[in-house]
Amino acid sequence: MSPWKLLLLPCALETFAEVSLWDSTTHARRSILSTLLAKSAFHLRKSTAHDESTASFWLKVGVDHHHDAQKHLKSALKGELGMNSNYAEMLMAILGVGIVSVYYHGARVVKQLLLDAEYLIRSQGLPATKTFAHRVLHHLYTHLRVIMESTSIMSKSVASKDGEQWRLASQLVQTPMPSQFRVNAQNLGKLDSTHPKPEDVGYNDIHLDVSGIWQATLYPEIFGVPETLMTLLSQTISLVNERPRLQAASLNNPMVSAALSQHIKTLEQQIWSWSLQRSNAPFGPRPPQFLLDEAEAPVNRQQAESMILSMHQALIIFFYRRVYNISAMVIQDQVKKTLEFVQPCLEMERFDADFSVSISWSTFIAAAEAATPDLQELGLRCLEAVDDRGMFIERGKPSAMAKAVWEHRRRTNDFSYGWPDMMAVWNPQLRCSA
Ligand SMILES: *[C@@H]1O[C@H](CO)[C@@H](O)[C@H](O)[C@H]1NC(C)=O
Repeated sequence: MSPWKLLLLPCALETFAEVSLWDSTTHARRSILSTLLAKSAFHLRKSTAHDESTASFWLKVGVDHHHDAQKHLKSALKGELGMNSNYAEMLMAILGVGIVSVYYHGARVVKQLLLDAEYLIRSQGLPATKTFAHRVLHHLYTHLRVIMESTSIMSKSVASKDGEQWRLASQLVQTPMPSQFRVNAQNLGKLDSTHPKPEDVGYNDIHLDVSGIWQATLYPEIFGVPETLMTLLSQTISLVNERPRLQAASLNNPMVSAALSQHIKTLEQQIWSWSLQRSNAPFGPRPPQFLLDEAEAPVNRQQAESMILSMHQALIIFFYRRVYNISAMVIQDQVKKTLEFVQPCLEMERFDADFSVSISWSTFIAAAEAATPDLQELGLRCLEAVDDRGMFIERGKPSAMAKAVWEHRRRTNDFSYGWPDMMAVWNPQLRCSA
């Protein structure tokens, strides 16, 4: 079930009709139409890459439509927000521009758009009755936000230098900023992943903060991944964000200190013991539908399963990089497994449309840790396939970032130095050429 086919495409087609027949529509709808045209053009650019002049033609078409989409979104947010605007269309417009921005603007722009989306969801979406379309869009937001947050390490120089550039709804948002990913002293240790999540918690947990099994989740249908896996990623991010504060608090309070180390151990154990089979257990969360669907072509089933397994291995790597900052040498086995699982996914039919963010994430997290020549070679091949496909790193292409990490390790022999350290320093050489 693809949000693009389900929601954005029909809306864009209706808008096209409105524009051509009556020359009237809203800015939000115009933005969605332009986003769809931009995305199609970028897709054509990829598939005509062998022919330089055709590819650059489609690139220009894509960029123009993307500018239009941004322009209309700006007007929509200025003029239409709140005034009986259509909530789902506004959210679709923001997320659409956000997804396409990944290709050309990098992480900061996407993050600002996601914060705008979160503001809209919290102020209008969560209090209201959630229709099916709303729920699909909330899931889309959650997935993009969790993945984006996992590599969101902003260098100070970048934040102060360009931090002011992208302001859309933030002009309107005078209220407190959308909440961060955090865990506080009271929540430490609340990691029971086997209990059912209450209805209202499930519907409103747009950061996947809360452990537990939520039967009504649409995660498997939309993204092909069990929600529990993404919850573990979200909880790792929160832990990393909050650890300095909790460590400071634990200096004066031995209880916090004990709770923190217990929390880390529990999370580590849950990440290791997560398995696709267990997530298929009778009372466990539902597995992705296509794993059960006999009608689905077996090759798709295998690829989809491979994608989930690659994400699980990448999550293990992510945990050890971010939480323990270990030497990359210790996780070469996971790197190898992740990249082997990723390979078949690169040919997946739904790769470009819906799964590219997930697959790019696994690829980057693993490849950046590759330490031997053959794993680096394999990593580079996979990275180059996903370079422009939706990995939210701050600057430059994922492959350039990984190569810079490898080079730094080679020079210094420091195998604990990783992509987070690299992202924390502003490095103009990695600047994206596009
Ligand atoms: C990880 O360890 C390396 C080497 O000891 C160090 O240079 C780096 O700053 C550490 N990174 C983090 C995020 O703690």
